[in-house]
Amino acid sequence: MAAQINPSILSADFARLADEARAVEGADWLHVDVMDNHFVPNLTLGVPVVESLARATGTPLDCHLMIEDPDRWAPQYVEAGASSVTFHVEAAAAPVRLAREIRAKGARASMALKPATPIEPYEDLLPELDMLLIMTVEPGFGGQAFLDIMLPKIRRTRELIGKHGLELWLQVDGGVSASTIERCADAGADVFVAGSAVYGAKDPAEAVRALRNQADA
Ligand code: DX5
Ligand code: ZN
Repeated sequence: MAAQINPSILSADFARLADEARAVEGADWLHVDVMDNHFVPNLTLGVPVVESLARATGTPLDCHLMIEDPDRWAPQYVEAGASSVTFHVEAAAAPVRLAREIRAKGARASMALKPATPIEPYEDLLPELDMLLIMTVEPGFGGQAFLDIMLPKIRRTRELIGKHGLELWLQVDGGVSASTIERCADAGADVFVAGSAVYGAKDPAEAVRALRNQADA
């Protein structure tokens, strides 16, 4: 699959979200970080903002829920207009049931792992998912340094996906930039979230194109 670049609006200007979404038209997805100040020590936005964003942009929304009790909340993000919903396995009470519910409502189901969470215990869950997110920073904030000790986990996950013959996408999130994206792609990632590397650039749309070219090279 060609590399997909998902700009994270966490690094955008929250007072101008619709314009900021349009500034990266041409991106594959828009990555929307939902934080509840419990699962992570930061607070961002919720269902009403996702509803408005879904109306404001034609780019599909990739909602990354860094929240407690995703079993209760994730389906509401599908109803709000998200085309892909990612929950954290550390927070989910029943990840298989939740993934099935997200899919049944018509969105892509995705599961995220914090840096200290191994992939191996979840091998049997992979067929239930459309995407797996490997965090390459501790979730909570944009602009953190990429954790290259996550590269072996990306590699092992890509091997498991191959072993089971799955179509699963493998997303990386945190510290992805011109200086780290090639290592992620080499390790087997195919969906790349980039916040500061896109919205910190003078021309965000050009930054998306440059990252995609790098990842595909
Ligand atoms: C962090 C979020 C990321 C964040 C990435 O917890 O999940 O999506 O926006 O920002 P950068 O690309 O700046 O590391
Ligand atoms: Zn994210």
